[in-house]
Amino acid sequence: MRFTGIAVTLALVALVAVAPLGRFVGAQDTSEQEMLDQRVRDFLAKARWRARTLNVSEADGQKLHDLIVENGYTRAVEVGTSTGHSTIWIAWALSKTGGKLITIEIHERRHKNALANLEKAGLSSFVDARLADAHELVPELEGPFDFAFIDADKDWYVRYFNWLLPELEVGGCFTAHNVSESGEGSPGENAPPGKMEEGTVEFVQEILATPGLDTEFFTGGGGLSISYKR
Ligand SMILES: C[S@@+](CC[C@H](N)C(=O)[O-])C[C@H]1O[C@@H](n2cnc3c(N)ncnc32)[C@H](O)[C@@H]1O
Repeated sequence: MRFTGIAVTLALVALVAVAPLGRFVGAQDTSEQEMLDQRVRDFLAKARWRARTLNVSEADGQKLHDLIVENGYTRAVEVGTSTGHSTIWIAWALSKTGGKLITIEIHERRHKNALANLEKAGLSSFVDARLADAHELVPELEGPFDFAFIDADKDWYVRYFNWLLPELEVGGCFTAHNVSESGEGSPGENAPPGKMEEGTVEFVQEILATPGLDTEFFTGGGGLSISYKR
């Protein structure tokens, strides 16, 4: 009885001693994230994305971010960094889920600009940015990934998809930019007016014909396909 009383007292003392530490650690994490959120918001508000660097729209960026946060994805891959607009939205989401992104860009100046932008936004530590030809690097990437975003040369979308699908976890999500279900009204940068760029029609046919995928389309920006692996 007396022994039990001592044990309970010791447990209470330990709880009182450790509780402030737990609060401190939790609060520190929260305030760090809040500071980072503010820094990213400030950066996004000031950043000037140029038509020449073909960055995603804010609506698409927000959608990519929300998909990652809502599903708790942590291992992401992006093909087509450019100067890093989509990269920043994806990396921001991963800062909240505790994840990391591999992103690939072939154009050296864009890659360097993306690195500088990520630094300014405070997101460098969430990104492994590779200067590489995705045609060579993507087949060598080893998963598992739970999120993929493709926004590079459209006539390679089908190949990127077929390389990455086996590396995607069940429950993971494969997304691609400048595509729509109808094949119209969501042009890529080199598309004829009102039409999708060459390669994306074949890509949409491929994802819709692939068993074990649930695909939907987001039309709020430049057109996104969103395919979940069952
Ligand atoms: C539409 S832009 C990407 C925009 C970017 N996602 C954003 O929102 O800021 C397409 C990028 O893919 C890059 N790209 C094209 N072919 C590539 C390849 N084979 N390997 C890597 N990057 C490639 C281009 O240099 C270009 O910067």
